Amino acid sequence: MTDTGSDHPTPPPGCPAHQGAVPLAGLEYQQAPSQLYRSLRREHGAVAPVLLDGDVPAWLVLGYTEVSYVTSHDELFARDSRRWNQWPAIPQDWPLLPFVGYQPSVLFTEGEEHRRRAGVITQALEGVDQFELARDCQVIADRLIADFAGSGRTELMSTYAHALPMRAAVQMCGMPHQGTDTQQLVEDLRISLDAAEGDDPVAAYVRVGERIQRLVKEKRDRPGPDVTSRMILDPAGLTDEEIVQDLISVIAAAQQPTANWIGNTLRLLLTDERFALNVSGGRLSVGEALNEVLWLDTPTQNFIGRWAVRDTQLGGRQIRAGDCVVLGLAAANTDPQIWPEAHVGAENSAHLSFSNGEHRCPYPAPLLADVIARTAVETLLERLPDLVLAVEPEELTWRPSIWMRGLTTLPALFTPVVQ
Ligand code: HEM
Repeated sequence: MTDTGSDHPTPPPGCPAHQGAVPLAGLEYQQAPSQLYRSLRREHGAVAPVLLDGDVPAWLVLGYTEVSYVTSHDELFARDSRRWNQWPAIPQDWPLLPFVGYQPSVLFTEGEEHRRRAGVITQALEGVDQFELARDCQVIADRLIADFAGSGRTELMSTYAHALPMRAAVQMCGMPHQGTDTQQLVEDLRISLDAAEGDDPVAAYVRVGERIQRLVKEKRDRPGPDVTSRMILDPAGLTDEEIVQDLISVIAAAQQPTANWIGNTLRLLLTDERFALNVSGGRLSVGEALNEVLWLDTPTQNFIGRWAVRDTQLGGRQIRAGDCVVLGLAAANTDPQIWPEAHVGAENSAHLSFSNGEHRCPYPAPLLADVIARTAVETLLERLPDLVLAVEPEELTWRPSIWMRGLTTLPALFTPVVQ
């Protein structure tokens, strides 16, 4: 790679930056990404050259077959971001660094080491009793609803959709979902995953690490029936540092996607008349709405990513060793190749919303996420049966992120509940 003396090394011939690459940002992604994916697919095929923040080149995989291929061939497309050939071009304050910068967690491990770490997480999550989790989520939901039920209005994303899965995840890991200590952890997790103006995400992340370290120490001394204790006691013998890293990954991985799954499902139920007729009575409708969201408005719409292990071909493109490959999960779910009659939205769960292959969202996390999201949505509709949007559907806005598809706010009205 030739250094031009500027901040960005010149990409060599064949690099995505040289082929009419499309900036992977902009308003269309926030409001109607599906149209943009369609036009990208028309123009570039199943694998499009794109530019990440700061015009850093990468490939966006839009085809269902191609995403499935990438995710099931770790020997060609691996997870350790240190493989990236663009590191010399990445500034210290690059906005995607928190997601792409290497960390010694399960997310960036490969091969045998990944199987060891992911195996411990899978075993620990398998120990979660789904009925108990549903009961816990209902208690959390009732407490959250009680905080705003008397007022007749609320903003559901902050008071409910984000708050509930965070508390559920913390509780699964062995902390009570109430108490000052937990409140502080929940608040610090929120700041580090989703900082608002004036927040200090770095300081919050340091506090999260310290609190999780204490939790691991407490559970080593006094194990209980929780995910943390099961990870500690697993015969694989993870070190405390590994457990802290992987617990943070589990909580972070659980929180944002599940929160946006809840928010996007509530939006669908409150704005689409196919569901409006029977939301309050129809349990089946909630299940259908949850599934439809995974096909059409999936929370993790793009996932970064994989890094090519060696020069290879994908969707007719020449991919170089070390190239970054972004998984276009939302685009893959609506690929016309799998929906030839332009009808998208099946009752099955063959979507790629939980990804695929060795690094997919680990079984049984999707089932637990379903319990959390379903309980959240059903409890809210049962407690506040006349819940309606407080704004016109067109006034709802999406977060300015090409990675997570979620609403900025979801204002709602209902008859105040006298407690
Ligand atoms: C209880 C809730 C959840 C937990 C505990 C959880 C846990 C995890 C963990 C530990 C990973 C890392 C796997 C690895 O690198 O080996 C992961 C990956 C992932 N999860 Fe989840 N998750 C949850 C909910 C969700 C939801 C609701 C979605 C989206 C609908 C989702 C989508 C994903 C995706 C797309 C990946 C990336 C897989 C890849 O690299 O190919 N997860 N999850």
